[in-house]
Amino acid sequence: MPTLDWIGKKAVLNHHRVVPYHLLKCDQKLSVGDPGSGNLLVQGDNLLALKALLPYYAGRVKCIYIDPPYNTGNENWVYNDAVNSPEIRKWLGRVVGAEAEDLSRHDKWLCMMYPRLMLLREFLRSDGAIFVSIDDGELHHLRALMDEVFGPRNFIATIVWQKKQSPQNDAINLSDMHDYLVVYAKRAKQNRDDPHGWNRNLLPREATQDARYSNPDNDPRGPWTSADYTCNKTADERPNLFYAITHPVTREQVWPSRRRVWAFDEAGHERNVRENRVWWGPGRRTRPRVKKFLCEVREGVVPTTWWTREFAGDNQEARRELRAAIADEQLDFQTPKPARLVKRILEIAAGKDSLVLDSFAGSGTTGHAVLGLNKADGGSRRFILVEMEEAICQTVTAQRLTRAIEGHNDLPALGGGFRYCRLGPTIFDETGNIRAGVTFGELAAHVYFAETGEPLPKRTNGKTPLLGVHNSKAIYLLFNGVLGDRSAGGGNVLTSTVLRALPAHSGPRIIYGEGCRLGPARLKRERIVFKQIPYGIKVS
Ligand SMILES: C[S@@+](CC[C@H](N)C(=O)[O-])C[C@H]1O[C@@H](n2cnc3c(N)ncnc32)[C@H](O)[C@@H]1O
Repeated sequence: MPTLDWIGKKAVLNHHRVVPYHLLKCDQKLSVGDPGSGNLLVQGDNLLALKALLPYYAGRVKCIYIDPPYNTGNENWVYNDAVNSPEIRKWLGRVVGAEAEDLSRHDKWLCMMYPRLMLLREFLRSDGAIFVSIDDGELHHLRALMDEVFGPRNFIATIVWQKKQSPQNDAINLSDMHDYLVVYAKRAKQNRDDPHGWNRNLLPREATQDARYSNPDNDPRGPWTSADYTCNKTADERPNLFYAITHPVTREQVWPSRRRVWAFDEAGHERNVRENRVWWGPGRRTRPRVKKFLCEVREGVVPTTWWTREFAGDNQEARRELRAAIADEQLDFQTPKPARLVKRILEIAAGKDSLVLDSFAGSGTTGHAVLGLNKADGGSRRFILVEMEEAICQTVTAQRLTRAIEGHNDLPALGGGFRYCRLGPTIFDETGNIRAGVTFGELAAHVYFAETGEPLPKRTNGKTPLLGVHNSKAIYLLFNGVLGDRSAGGGNVLTSTVLRALPAHSGPRIIYGEGCRLGPARLKRERIVFKQIPYGIKVS
């Protein structure tokens, strides 16, 4: 596969692996509504935030939507990764793209995107998909990058979205009217019969689509519309579709053209006649048409790659929505997307109870769209949003979500809630030891993820050392005196007494603890693998 190279690439290829795990700290004062709704707004650089979220949500997200900086050269996007390699430092400025003529602008953007996409991929369920907003500035780079991260076989589509109605008369060249959505699945279906992989949902039928159906002949099957009786094949290609049909009234022999033959063979046509599916029109029309009944059409409409502003909103609509949702003095947020755009993505790519992730949250459109859809169809979708800029996060994102939840002037109250979180310190300190203050629950999530690559099956209440059973192996954590004081470090050391106190499991056991006083023969007999914390906790 051809791959894209850029300055700094080597240094970022494995960068996502060395990003440290931070703790997430929730701020009750900035959290709003029902804390059990499962929605999160995280303030912080998404590289660190995604890594911190991974132990809790790896493999759980059905739909990711991101709208990263487009790197137009007019933005002031901040690149603040703690990347210490001299090569990266050479190529990554703190503020990128401030000058359009910066020749390494695209390298920097690619360096910013690569590790984030690598992490985002880990959040997707096996039947999940990612949608990325972009324009022509980086589309070609993004496609190559996504091929590398998600695999070219998992490319689904590039959607064209009409973002504007009126052309810009002062455009230097052509007036730019559209953006793109680049779509990849974690695993795309490789053919029509492939039972695995991403399934797109059909879009709900609109009333205007149903209005095309009527019932001029009072057919008992109800409203229908008529479609062409021919297909795009020649008589040479499909000789069995080139035959004469008898007009039911005039008894004339009606032939298709040699360049476009009937869509049905003779047996199919006779079945259509028996089932009253051939429509010759009210007069003496000489060409047949086939009746398509509303009751037989699919529940919905196949989504296309062509999204007009009538279908998915436009930039103007997005600005109007934002104006309605945040205080006037905060209106300098320039790049919101319309909620209808995100709603369309969710209709196609999420279920009613799916988890949705947006790690470049901006004004919180994704959260607003999730709340709106839940209200409309009684769904229980949840969102995770990440926004780096504290000022935007508090005064735009959080405020918009609050007003969407509680209602404000003409905005209806959609209900729900969200927890507002910030990045806390890293789990391990500079010497590799577990940082003081890390709770049993925090370390448990980390240990289970390190061992299995999956989140804890259910949040621990901190009262049992048994974290879960994975592939028939039970995983235990002895930390912070979880067993109460059974001596030897308050139960953090595996002794015979501690072993007897562990919840039983008949299969193999993996036990993490501060120390172990059982000999190798005993561990083998009991089918125990002991791993010492912190050194035994290894996440790739
Ligand atoms: C184009 S805007 C997204 C707009 C959003 N779709 C909306 O409808 O409002 C990109 C957002 O990503 C944020 N951002 C940029 N780099 C980030 C990073 N490394 N981590 C988290 N957020 C970031 C910016 O502050 C900005 O608010």
